[in-house]
Amino acid sequence: MQSYTVQPAKSVRGEIRVPGDKSISHRSIMFGSIANGVTKVSGFLRGEDALATLEAFRSMGVQIDDDGETVTIVGKGLHGLEEPIDVLDCGNSGTSMRLLTGLLSGQSFFSVLSGDKYLRARPMKRVVGPLSKMGAHIGGRAGGEKAPLAIQGSKLKGIEYDSPVSSAQVKSAIMLAGLYAEGETVVREPHLSRDHSERMLRAFGANVETFPGGVKVRGGAELTGRDIVVPGDISSAAFFMVAGSIVPGAELVIKGVGINPTRTGIIDILKGMGADLELLNVRDETGEPVADIRVRYAQLKAMAISGEVVPRAIDEFPAICVAAALAEGTTVVSGAEELRVKETDRITAMADNLRRAGVTVVETPDGMEITGVSALKACAADSFGDHRIAMSMMVAGLVAQGETTISDVDCIATSFPGFRELLEGVVQR
Ligand code: S3P
Repeated sequence: MQSYTVQPAKSVRGEIRVPGDKSISHRSIMFGSIANGVTKVSGFLRGEDALATLEAFRSMGVQIDDDGETVTIVGKGLHGLEEPIDVLDCGNSGTSMRLLTGLLSGQSFFSVLSGDKYLRARPMKRVVGPLSKMGAHIGGRAGGEKAPLAIQGSKLKGIEYDSPVSSAQVKSAIMLAGLYAEGETVVREPHLSRDHSERMLRAFGANVETFPGGVKVRGGAELTGRDIVVPGDISSAAFFMVAGSIVPGAELVIKGVGINPTRTGIIDILKGMGADLELLNVRDETGEPVADIRVRYAQLKAMAISGEVVPRAIDEFPAICVAAALAEGTTVVSGAEELRVKETDRITAMADNLRRAGVTVVETPDGMEITGVSALKACAADSFGDHRIAMSMMVAGLVAQGETTISDVDCIATSFPGFRELLEGVVQR
């Protein structure tokens, strides 16, 4: 387990590109595999999470080739997957495990999903519960709450489900089962979570209809393979948006970033804090809006963060915590209890790390209160094995008074291979 030491930066400047969107990369493999015909994906994220999904489908007999530029998937159709002869290893990836649970529920074979110690500790009842109502046969540790999950594929029927959480993983798992179910499947959620499944499934020809508050899927429609251009991941760009906002004199342009409105909470929040962010060259690439993002240093101010913006920024909270640590005043985050069941408990993890850096943080059950400082203290930070905590504390280290060492940074490879090099490439010392 490697640690990494960050030196303070004089500034950060440059033009960069971040790797492909993780959510869209996962879905391109899944939907391409169960479509008829060929799907070609460019901009695919070669991070451990998306590669776990890719390997899972190879294990179910799907031919997937990667020439380093384009990932080519030879689809097997809705009913063409083969029973995997071993456990499907989802690694650290909640998206792989939860979406696959939905998809595998409707197959005609048996499969087992497992993952690393972090993933095996995460809640799975949120998908196992509604899928069981559809007729799925899923067993798991702790009564189906924890992986490994064993799935005996079966005939499914559509349900109407009011999800208690705004979660794209829950919504997508049920939608994928819905593709195989008899009749109509409806999922409603409190606030709209990322809608990549809705957009991409419709583009593949699935019978998917959105309405305010939810989505409706009619089972049985065949999917047709297509070309997909994966935009840069706004969740990866977020670390540079925050770095550009907190390091004096900074100016960064991040090219080709996905700005799907269900993902742009980070932009709204940073702008609400007074950040100097501009969207340039806004365009559309295979059904997803894309832009170049320019960020320049600005003194940030605290704000209250809650409500519908929370799911639209759910993966960006570790980075937002760093922005709040350098903002004037006390930033109050509430309605964000989902952060406690991410790769780690991100409320406790960021509170712990920011306190080590000299910041006053109060934890609440569903959020936190962070009182900004003018400079962070040098410290030893802990990634807690969570990629986004590691990257956030590396960004924090740019504005610390001395060296910041972050333990166990190997986890960054799950979502952002090359992060360190990209960051060091824009830092001026
Ligand atoms: C994801 C959904 C989110 C997010 C995760 C990716 C997806 O999880 O945190 O990184 O691709 O559907 P939840 O649906 O659990 O909020």
